[in-house]
Formats: sequence, C-alpha cells, structure tokens
Amino acid sequence: MIKQETIQQIQSSIDIIDIVGTFVKLKKRGANYLGNCPFHHEKTPSFTVSPSKEIYKCFGCGKSGNAIGFLMEHEKYSYVEALRWLADKYNIEIEETETSPEFKALQLTSDSLFIINNFAKDFFSNALINTDEGRDIALSYLKERGFRDDIIQKFQLGFNPGAKDDFTIAALDKQYNKDLLVKSGLVVNRDDKLSDNYRGRIIFPIHNQSGKVLGFGARIIKSNDKSPKYINTPENEIYIKSRILYGSYFARTAIDKANECLLVEGYTDVVSLHQAGIENVVASGGTSLTIEQLRLIKKYTGNLTIIYDGDSAGIKAALRGLDLAVEESLNVKLVLIPDKEDPDSYVNKIGAAAFIDFINREKKDFILFQLEIALKDAGNDTSKKSIIVNQIAETISKINKAEEFTTRQDYIKQVSEILKIEESGFNALVNKIIRDKLSKEDQKSQRIEIPADTENTQVENETNQLFNKDELHEQAVVRTLIEFGLREWDENEKVAQHIFKQMDESDLHEMIDNKLLLKIIQVYRKWFNEGIEPSEKTFLYMDDHEISDQVVKLMKMDTEISPNWNKHYEGFIPSRDDLYKEEVISTLNYLQLRKIKKLIAENQVDLEKATNPQEEMIFIQTHQHLKKIEVELTKKIGSVIIK
Ligand code: GTP
Ligand code: MN
Repeated sequence: MIKQETIQQIQSSIDIIDIVGTFVKLKKRGANYLGNCPFHHEKTPSFTVSPSKEIYKCFGCGKSGNAIGFLMEHEKYSYVEALRWLADKYNIEIEETETSPEFKALQLTSDSLFIINNFAKDFFSNALINTDEGRDIALSYLKERGFRDDIIQKFQLGFNPGAKDDFTIAALDKQYNKDLLVKSGLVVNRDDKLSDNYRGRIIFPIHNQSGKVLGFGARIIKSNDKSPKYINTPENEIYIKSRILYGSYFARTAIDKANECLLVEGYTDVVSLHQAGIENVVASGGTSLTIEQLRLIKKYTGNLTIIYDGDSAGIKAALRGLDLAVEESLNVKLVLIPDKEDPDSYVNKIGAAAFIDFINREKKDFILFQLEIALKDAGNDTSKKSIIVNQIAETISKINKAEEFTTRQDYIKQVSEILKIEESGFNALVNKIIRDKLSKEDQKSQRIEIPADTENTQVENETNQLFNKDELHEQAVVRTLIEFGLREWDENEKVAQHIFKQMDESDLHEMIDNKLLLKIIQVYRKWFNEGIEPSEKTFLYMDDHEISDQVVKLMKMDTEISPNWNKHYEGFIPSRDDLYKEEVISTLNYLQLRKIKKLIAENQVDLEKATNPQEEMIFIQTHQHLKKIEVELTKKIGSVIIK
C-alpha cells in the first residue's frame, strides 16, 4: 500500500493541464483550457479543463473528474496505477506502508511467476522459429493454417519440443525454484522427477493488460483422442481464470476506436481475426462469462458483440452469463457463425470484408434473441409461455439506470409485440420487479449507512425513488454549501452555519431524498464541526470516490463573459460569486417549499381519514396554515429559476 503522505505529496504536485495535456491538445480559453474530447468523437471542442478547480468536464458527453480520474478513464489505470504514473512524472519517491509477511510472500511469488513465464515465452518462441523440430512440426502446421510470420511474432506464439524435459532442463539451468516451476504449470512433478507439461504442443502466451505473460494455452498438434486439445496454466497467484480475456492486451486501442468489443471462443479465432485486420477482439476461453471479465470489457466500451459458432456448446454457456452483462449496462449483441465453421475458419473462407459485412448484418440483440430461442422451445405450451414472460421481464428490469430509461421502454414495446401481450401490463410487471428490488436494496443500504442515532423514519414514496424529479434542487443546495459554505453570511456566522440552522438533522432526511447527496452534507457538517474547513478541493481527492465523483459533477466551471456583453452592458455585471447570498436563499426556499408541499399532501390524507368534526377542523386549520406558508415561499422564489 502506498503511504498516505506519498499520496498527499502526489496530489499536491498535480498540474491538471500538464497531465491532461499529455493526451489531449488543449488551447487556453479565458480561465479554462479547451480541447477535443478524448472520450467521444467530436469536431468542435467541448472538453474543458479548469486549472484552478483541478477538474475536467466534457459538455458533449458529460464525462468529468479530477486528474487521477482522467488517467483512470483515459489510460484504463487502476487508482494505484494512476498514482504510480503521477509519482513517476513528478519524480516523487513512493513510500509503501509496512506490508504483512503473507502479502510480501504473495508479491514475491507473483513476481517470480512473471519472470518464469517471460523466460518460458522466449524459450518456446525460439524453439518454434529457430529449431528444426519446431519448424518442421509446429511452424509448418501454423503456416498450413494460414498464420503469417508477423502475426505469429506479434502474439509471441511458440512451441514446446517433444522431448520429455527440454524446457525443464533449461529452466533448472537458470536456477528457477522447482516449486515455482510446478506452480507455473510449465513443469510437472511425477515420482519426484520433473518434466515438461506442454510437450509437443503449440504455445499461446496469455498476456495481462500491460503485456506481461500470465500463463499459457498449449494446443496439441495432431489430434489425439487420449489427450485434451488444449492444456492451460492452472490457477495460481497470477493466472486467475475468471479474470482472463485472451487478446485484451492487443485489442485495447482498436476497441476504443470502434467503441465495440468482439468476443469469440478460441485463441485461434482471436489471432485469425487480427490477421484479417479485425483487432477489437478478445476470447473468453469457451466458458461462461464472469462478472470480472464483463467489467474489464466495460472499462473499454459499452458495446459487446458475441460471435459464436451456431452449434457450439459455448453459446449456451455464454448466454447463461449474459443477464450479468445487462446489469453492467453493457449493450449486448449476438452473431452466430453458420455451418460448423468458427470465426477463424469462416474469416479464412470468406475474407475480411465479407466477414465484417456478415457481422454487421447478422448482429442480433441479445435480449430479443434469448426470447426467440425460448419461444421456439415453448411451442404452444401456455404455462411455459408465462414463465418466459416473467423471465424476460426479469432481464429487462436489470436495465434500470435512469439514463437507460428509453432503452428499457423500447424493449418493453418490442417484447410485448413479439409475445402478443398488452404493453401496459408488461410495463407494470417490469416496474413491479424494479420496485421490489429497489425497496430491498434501500432497506439494506439504510441499515448500513444511516447511523443509529439518526434513524430514518420517513416512508419514501415509490415514485420519488424511481423518478427523482426534484433532485436538481437537492444538488443545488449541496453545490451552494460546498462552493460558498465558508463565506460570510453575516457578522456572526458563515454560510454553512446558516444552511445547517435551516436544515437540522431531522429536516435533512426529509428534505434530501438522494442518499449520496445526503451523505455529502453529513460529511461536510462533520468536518465543519471538527474545525476542518471543507472546500471543493477537500472533496476532490477524497478516498470515497463515489463522493468525489458526485462533487466534480456538481462543480461549475468558471464561465467567461463574452467581450460583447461588456459592450452592451457597460459597467458591472454581477456573477454567481457576487450573488452567492441570493443563491443560498433561493436554494433553501426551494427545499422548504418542497417540504411544505409534502406536509400538505400528508395532511390531506389525514383529513380524508378523519373520524369526527373536531379532528376534521384541526386538519383544515393545518391545511390553511401550510397553504399560507406555501404562498409566501412561492412569492419569495418569484421568477428565480434554478438550473
Ligand atoms: P482450433 O481448433 O485450433 O481452431 O482451436 P479453437 O480455439 O478453435 O478451439 P475450440 O473452438 O475447440 O475451443 C475454443 C476454446 O476453448 C479454445 O481456444 C480453448 O480456450 C478452449 N478449449 C478447447 N478445447 C479445450 C480443452 O480440451 N481443454 C481446455 N482446458 N480448454 C479447451
Ligand atoms: Mn478453431
């Protein structure tokens, strides 16, 4: 682990213009810098970087973050990798916290395995190209299948000679540890004798994201009923099957460019498609996709196209994992390769251009494809059909992020048509599943997040959770707090104190529905009370990335007033900065108004349930009182509109 002091040193050296400028051409525009957004395609620049706020924002695609977040997004680094990159750039020596002996041992093992694998990769590659046996048996086989030299080299393909222990002897000669050699899967121990595990096989090295060799796939050359076609590295400290996507190292830039990842089953499929110039392709290794693999893909693109052979067992395995993909907001398409071909043989048969055409023509939406298969399976069986309706509703309910609302409604429409059922009924079913899930999650998160002394007794209504229309006002109050909280309200107090006076702990829960925004206010108050003066920067590099991401989203870039304006309005033009007190008042008024409206609605319900005239009278008086406040607040807010 990197020491906290080092992290702080790195954070304080950050020059966001310098960092983003390494990857994006930036031009100065007033207080900010402007460039073409690296995260989406655009001709007129809308990607803005603010040196004073240390953030970037794209007004085209909405991406935003701090410098570390930029590196994570652009270079696909993990948080720690981004820190290391920065430390390297600014010549900061990284100090690590003391690690446990177990962790050190693990790191030592991993490092050694990488070293052994790298040695093995070179050994096998040499054996393939520079030995008679390799050329005669293995290279000729690869050539016969049509693989070109440059591709064989790019993928670092190799050959493990047929003798019992050629590799083992070379590795022992290098003084590599026997247990580690066995752990790497390259060597087996039989009756206390070490020998080569991949004897006589073609070797496919499997690389991680930065090109280091994690392990190998070893293919038999002459088919043989007794031994398996492929042998793979066993699970060890670095080869973790559920996280491996063969080819991802070579596919990255192409995936970025195409904004699509093609997924195939086999190593040879990846290599052949590359050779044909189709480089945005990775392989799963013929098992069902894991959540880790899906998240890896999601880091690169939101569009996943699965290309499997039609009669393969793999297709069922892949389909099984795909609800997970929908949940990860991946847009999944499916293509089946016909007639006992696989992508490797098919691209060789019809050529690259025809292959690309075929993929684009045959791409089917995964959800509708699943429905098609299930319907065929069910035939006229009505009970089976009702199971299908529920299953497909379950799948669609996983598309439940606010920004995916239209996609979901599209599916609901199409599926209702295919199933010949009422759209409104099907819609209601999907919504019910979403609601049930949300309320379950909500109960869970309330138990974890809300401290015991501030127990949330408020019963939130379901529509509020689904469509948080009023969230803009909640965002406005948090933004006001973070941006102006430390300024003077009057001689006696700061803006933050004024805001907290207007919204005490119990009010907070009633006024702020969004859990994350609520959390930010609570964090702010805690810090403020402890004498830490929280500024935008304090939030910007917080460990809790959910919070820092949200704060960046709320932050406004310093906007420039165009020179023409000054011509038209000679003299003073008030900015948000000058008008901060008014902004505080109006944001608070909005929230107050919302609360009053809620109280009026609740009182209305009570009134309808009243059992005698006295009770009724009380509720009516309450109503009149609340209405009066509502009118006053509405007047105060006047025509001020919060954006
Ligand atoms: P070629 O037959 O040489 O074209 O290889 P392929 O990649 O097309 O193989 P296939 O379609 O039969 O299998 C797809 C993938 O499943 C392979 O690339 C392997 O990752 C995996 N696989 C296939 N056979 C075996 C096996 O016997 N054992 C293991 N562990 N994996 C296998
Ligand atoms: Mn094949």
